Order: sequence, then structure tokens, then C-alpha cells
Amino acid sequence: MKSLEIKLNSSCSIYLGAGLFEKALLVDFCRSLSKRLVIISDDQVPDEIGLGVKNLLDRANLDSRIFYFPAGEIHKTRETKAQLENVLLDHQYGRDTCLLALGGGVTTDLVGFLASTYCRGIPFVSLPTTLLAMVDASIGGKTGVNTRHGKNLIGTFYQPLAVFMEIDLLKTLPTREWNNGVVELIKHGLIADADLFYKIQASVGSLQHDPKLLLEIIHQSCLIKKNIVARDEKESGMRQWLNYGHTIGHAVESIEEYQLSHGEAIAIGLLVETKLSIEAGLLGASVLSDLKKLLAAYQLPLKTRAFQNKERFLHQLQGDKKSKARTPHFVMLNKIGKAREHGCQYAFPVAITLLEEIFDWAALEFAMC
Ligand code: GLY
Repeated sequence: MKSLEIKLNSSCSIYLGAGLFEKALLVDFCRSLSKRLVIISDDQVPDEIGLGVKNLLDRANLDSRIFYFPAGEIHKTRETKAQLENVLLDHQYGRDTCLLALGGGVTTDLVGFLASTYCRGIPFVSLPTTLLAMVDASIGGKTGVNTRHGKNLIGTFYQPLAVFMEIDLLKTLPTREWNNGVVELIKHGLIADADLFYKIQASVGSLQHDPKLLLEIIHQSCLIKKNIVARDEKESGMRQWLNYGHTIGHAVESIEEYQLSHGEAIAIGLLVETKLSIEAGLLGASVLSDLKKLLAAYQLPLKTRAFQNKERFLHQLQGDKKSKARTPHFVMLNKIGKAREHGCQYAFPVAITLLEEIFDWAALEFAMC
């Protein structure tokens, strides 16, 4: 088993490996908390996983319950959070409670947010069940919900006590879910690690079936995120790099009303933002075609209806959390493996005229047939 330790203001250990839930590690960790445990999961996590964790805790005589909420970004809302809060309050859970977030990125974001405000903050542990949640959502303490104004605009920075990444759970991950994670791995390669990017490129078709390589790639990717978050936990600088592809991608997701998966929207976002770096004269044109080939090889559809209404799209971009005085700011690339840094700046303003040109290009490039 590989494990790495994230140390921020608070400390959070990340455990990564196969057969983790079966080892005493998780149970021992939960026992050491001496808390009432509440597993919160979504209704798409297979029963054998949710009940499997519950049974482990039961067998160790730990006090636990499991509650579910409906899966999907569309349910990552203030309303779902309030419903879960009411359930916890009805059962008289107090500050002696620890939440276990069992599921994908929606679950770790939502449960983390809930933990950060319930009784003014109770501990939580992340048990990510998807590749996306492992390499992105469960690391770094971003929590939050979506509103009709956009993704993740309401939330907190709140670190889990620990993250247990059980690699065996990935064996049965559906392709669409798997690809959500692959897109974030590619993003990490683009911004900070060319070797990771080329490894992913070289392992198209084999990654999901090669546990050793998968472990290595997830570990490499987690280290990138850990190092960035350790330098800038609250996203006042370098952490903005992790938003590469997400300024456009979040707008696509929101306009599509979450009909595209996160990975499908971010794949389009990565391509559009790569085009921006090329148009800004920072990056060679071949990166765009290499990236497109790679994303297509992972069978990402690269089609959307989001580029039909320019005014609406630009309005959405102006509301992005990196915008300043309503001017959208974008992470830029200097080359594969190196996001742009200039002085203390990690995201850069882009003129509306250039965004309009890029929109016209994207409208053709990603048009539905
Ligand atoms: N997913 C972007 C971040 O954690 O900052």
C-alpha cells in the first residue's frame, strides 16, 4: 500500500491501496475517533460497498448508521444538504459525530460541506469510490453545492480527517464514470507533470486493467494536487491552476444542466482553454491536436449544445469565481506540464473580444451533428 500524508493547517492523511477496507486501518482509524459514525452515501453506490463498510464497523462494535441521498450533480444542492441535516437532527446526532462520505465527487463535496457547518463543524472522513473523487474531489478540502447560478459557488474549505482510497473499487467503475477521473488526471499532467501526461497517453486502453500502473498514476496525480494545495489551500494563487479547463467546463456543465458528465464538460473546457493559450501566443499549436486525440481515445464525446448562445455563455463566464470586476480569468499553459505563472499571478484576464472569437471556434468544433 502506498500512503501519503497531506499536511495543511490541519493534517489529513491519505491512504491509497488495494484491499484497504478489509485491512484493520479504516476500522482502527474510526475507533480512535471514538465518535458516533454516520455513513452518508448516494443511491448509486452499489449496496455491497455501502453495506460492506457498515458491516465492517458493526463487526468492530462501532456505533454507525448509513443514510442515502439521490445521486448526481443535480442533487448537490442546498436542499439536499438541508434534508440530510434534518435527518441527523431528527436522530439527535451532536458534536460527538463523525461523518463518512462514501461515494463520488458529489458525495465528498456535499458531505464535506455538511460536516463543516453541522453543529458549527464536525469531523469527516472521505471514502471516495470513483477515480474522479480519488484524484480530485476528496483531496484539498473544497466542499460545496451547486445553485442555478453555477457550480460550487456556495461552500467552504474544510479538510477531512483522512481519505481512504480503495483502488479495488475502480475495477467495476462504468466507463463514463472512469473517464471523469481520467480527464482530471490529464489536467494534472497538463498543468504540472509532462511525464504523467505522456504515461496516460501511452496507456490508453490498458490503464483500467493494469493495477500497478493505475496505483502509480493515481499516486503521482495525488502528489501534484497535494503539493499545490499545501502551498495555497484557500486558492488565492497557485491552486487556481487546478481550475484549468474548469472555467469553460463549469459553464458548459451549467448550461447543459448537468446532462454532460463532469469529465465530458471538462474535456471540452481543457480543449477550449488550450486553444486560448495558443491564441495568446503562449503555447505551440500541436498541443491542441495531441490533447484532442488523447481525449477522443478515451471516448469522450467532445460534443455540446452549450455554444449556441454567445451572450449567455459569456455571462456565465463573467460569474466564474476567478473573475475580477466581471472580467473572466483563465489558467494558461506554457507547455505540457507547465502552467503559466507570472509574478504572483496564476490566472490571467482574457479580453471579451478574444473570448467571442474562441466561442465562435468552439461552436463549430463541438457542434452536435
Ligand atoms: N478541483 C479543484 C481544486 O480542488 O482546487
